[in-house]
Amino acid sequence: MLDDLNALENKALAELDAADSPDAIEAWRIAHIGAKGALKAMMPRMKDVPKEQKGEVGKRLNEVKATLESAFEAKKGAAGPGGAGPAPAVDMTEPGITDTRRLGRRHIITRVRAELVEVFARMGFDVAQGPELEDDEHNFIKLNIPAGHPARDPIDNFYVDDPNEAETPRMLRSQTSTVQIRAMERMVAEGSGPPIKVVSPGRVYRPDTVDATHSFMFHQIEGLYIDRGVTLRDLKTTLLQFAKAYFAPDAEIRLRPSFFPFTEPSAEFDMKIALKPGTEPAWIELGGCGMVDPNVLQACGVDPEEWTGFAFGFGIERIAMGKHAIPDIRMLFENDIRFLERV
Ligand code: DAH
Repeated sequence: MLDDLNALENKALAELDAADSPDAIEAWRIAHIGAKGALKAMMPRMKDVPKEQKGEVGKRLNEVKATLESAFEAKKGAAGPGGAGPAPAVDMTEPGITDTRRLGRRHIITRVRAELVEVFARMGFDVAQGPELEDDEHNFIKLNIPAGHPARDPIDNFYVDDPNEAETPRMLRSQTSTVQIRAMERMVAEGSGPPIKVVSPGRVYRPDTVDATHSFMFHQIEGLYIDRGVTLRDLKTTLLQFAKAYFAPDAEIRLRPSFFPFTEPSAEFDMKIALKPGTEPAWIELGGCGMVDPNVLQACGVDPEEWTGFAFGFGIERIAMGKHAIPDIRMLFENDIRFLERV
């Protein structure tokens, strides 16, 4: 009988292995471990087993039964849901215990830049773009910064061509004011204006030593509005509306007389704002502005007798740091995930 049990076990396991559908597995169960199966059929033979072997044979019988039953359960589980199987070993609908995936989000500078464009769009400004690799005609000459001007010093600019050799040396632009020139040239070529009302956000490059408030690459947003009869009052109104819309309804602004080669008069633009609720409002400088210099209009083919305009340029990092209480510009570029998730 021991030999028969071993043979039955081997045969049954081989057949179970070959069963390839829920129906075949169920048929196997009935044939081998069911109430009228092969194993059950061997039970009556126990009474013929000599007394001294009964213990050993009985133990083996139980072993074979347990082996076949657990093989059956395993096979049924592996066959998966559907059919006559039990619940699958893994419930695929159960939520994970710890979800380790991080969902990304747009970088704070990308978000602030889009918000600024959105606020100015509501005031009627389109978006104009220009290249980051510029030439000195757009970065300097047409902005009324002539040859020999200290702003053109190679120490202060990332030239790509040697400024002493190339006729129109190329450089990484040091300011988005270049796009004022590009936008006016395009407008004149297409005959689409004036008037023109555009903002131009983008990267600028200067070989500054990196510290808490300086970086060799940062972002600016430039504004340009040219029409008949545009005055300094329009500039101040636009800046005030911007400050109220983007920062707080009670934001105050201030223009401080200054100098830029491409505007006359020129001013620095400050805003007084409590950066955190409950703190004292403080003046922060956002950028420069002024009335577009007649020389600049003329260089782009716009008649300064007929048209006037204003321009401004803000640092986007400066605005983001002010609005989100970021103490160090380097935090914006280090990509520390703890910082990026906070802002
Ligand atoms: N381009 C200037 C800078 O980078 C900022 C600026 C000043 C832009 C006055 C303007 C302006 O459009 O009118 O410092």
